[in-house]
Amino acid sequence: ATVTYRKPDGTVTVLDVPAGSTVMRGALTNGIEGIEGECGGDGICATCHVYVDHSPVPLPEIDENEGELLDCTSSPRKPNSRLSCQLPVTEELDSLVVTLPATQV
Ligand code: FES
Repeated sequence: ATVTYRKPDGTVTVLDVPAGSTVMRGALTNGIEGIEGECGGDGICATCHVYVDHSPVPLPEIDENEGELLDCTSSPRKPNSRLSCQLPVTEELDSLVVTLPATQV
């Protein structure tokens, strides 16, 4: 699925991330700076914070754990904040657009 990563400096990278991956892993695999993913996707580090600008389909609900971590992110939490490791990539997710926060740690 096509995922667009926008950096705060305006740099835009469009990647084809395979279904079964996550928005976090797609960034790490392709060397996108701005997503750290320190815990490897276990949902405990909050260094994979993104702002979701556009999603073609509803995203999974924010569970309690993700909600608590989003209160501890380095950059401010916004209504469209998500942990990118908690966003599974599916074929239907094609054209997802996320903006990376200024800081992760
Ligand atoms: Fe650690 Fe997402 S990679 S919470």
